[in-house]
Amino acid sequence: MYDSKIASFAKYVPENIVKNDDLSKIVETSDEWIFSRTGIKERRISISENTSQMCANAGKLAVERAGLSPSDINLIIVATMSSDFSTPSSACMVQKIIGAKNAAAFDIGAACSGFIFALSAADKFIKTGAFENVLVAGGETLSKMLDWSDRSTCVLFGDGAGACVLTRGNIGGGIIAEDLHSDGEKADALTSFFKPVNNAFCENLDEKLKYVKMDGREIFNFATRKVPLSINTVLQKANLSFDDIKYIVPHQANSRIVEIIARKLKLPMEKFFMNMDKYGNTSAASIPIALSEMVEQKLINEKDKIIVSGFGGGLTWGSAVIQI
Ligand code: ACO
Repeated sequence: MYDSKIASFAKYVPENIVKNDDLSKIVETSDEWIFSRTGIKERRISISENTSQMCANAGKLAVERAGLSPSDINLIIVATMSSDFSTPSSACMVQKIIGAKNAAAFDIGAACSGFIFALSAADKFIKTGAFENVLVAGGETLSKMLDWSDRSTCVLFGDGAGACVLTRGNIGGGIIAEDLHSDGEKADALTSFFKPVNNAFCENLDEKLKYVKMDGREIFNFATRKVPLSINTVLQKANLSFDDIKYIVPHQANSRIVEIIARKLKLPMEKFFMNMDKYGNTSAASIPIALSEMVEQKLINEKDKIIVSGFGGGLTWGSAVIQI
C-alpha cells in the first residue's frame, strides 16, 4: 500500500470577462440582484476554447509545476458535466493535446462535486499501486449549456478549468480523509443536456430540455443542510480539529451558502476561501481553480491541511481533508 501526495495545482480561465452589468443588457437583471444574492460580480465566458482545451491548459501547467513531463503521467481523470463530446472523453482529448502518451484516461461526472470524486478516485489508484502519477482536472464550459434567456440560471455560471497532479508520496500526506455521497432521488433538482431517445421513429423533443435547469431553492437548502455535516464528518475521520485546518475551500456557487455553512459550523468567514466574485460558479472547476489561486497568492503552503467540500447535481456532495 502506498500513499498519495499532492504535487501541484494550476488553473486556466478564458480571457473574456463578462460583468453583471453586461448581463443586464441580455436579460432583465442587475448587478445589485446578482451580487446580493450570489456574491458574483463577473465570470469568464469562453468564446473559443472548449472544456478539453481549458483542462489541457491547466493540466500542462500542473504537470510542469510538479516537475514532471507529460509522458510521466500514467492516468488522467477529468471531472466535467460539459465535455466536448460524449466520446471521446475530455480526458482522452487532454491526453492528445498535452502529449501524455503513456496515460490511461477517463472522465467522471458528478457535476459540481466532480473534482472531489475525481480526487478520491485518483487517490485510490495511487494507494493501490496501480498508477504513480495522476493528473486530475475539473473543467467546464457551462456557457454552452445555458439558456441565455433564463435569468435565473445564466447569471450564475462561468467557464474555466483547474488541475492538480497526485503522485506517490510518504504516508500521512495527500488525501487524509474523505466523505462522499449521492442522492439520485433528487436527480430532477439540477439537470442539463438531456439526451432523449431520438431516432427516425420519435417525435421531436422540447429544445429547452438541453439547457441547465435548476431548482435553485432546493439546491440552496440541500447545500446548507448537507455540507456542514460532511465537513464535520471528514474532520472527525481525520481525527483533527478546525484549529488544524488552514482553510475550508467550498464549491464556489454562492456566498450566501458559504455564510450559512460558516454560521452552522460556528467558524469565522476568514476560514473560508471565496473567489466566486471573479469566476461565478464553474462547477467541477471551482475547487481546483480556488486551490490554484490560493497557492499562487501564497495563502497556502507545504504541509497545510485544507478541507475541500463540493455539492451539486445528482445530487452529489462530498468533502476531503487534503494536505498540500
Ligand atoms: N435577476 C433579477 N431577478 C431574478 C433573477 C435575476 N438574475 N433570477 C431570478 N430573479 C427573480 C425571480 O424571478 C424571483 O422573482 P419573483 O419573486 O417575482 O418570482 C425573485 O428574483 C427571487 O427568486 P428566487 O429564485 O427565490 O431567488 P433566491 O433568493 O432563491 O436566489 C439563487 C436564487 C441565487 C439561484 C439561489 O437559489 C441559489 O444560489 N441556489 C443555489 C444554486 C446553486 O448553488 N447551484 C449549485 C449547484 S450547480 C451544479 O451542480 C452545476
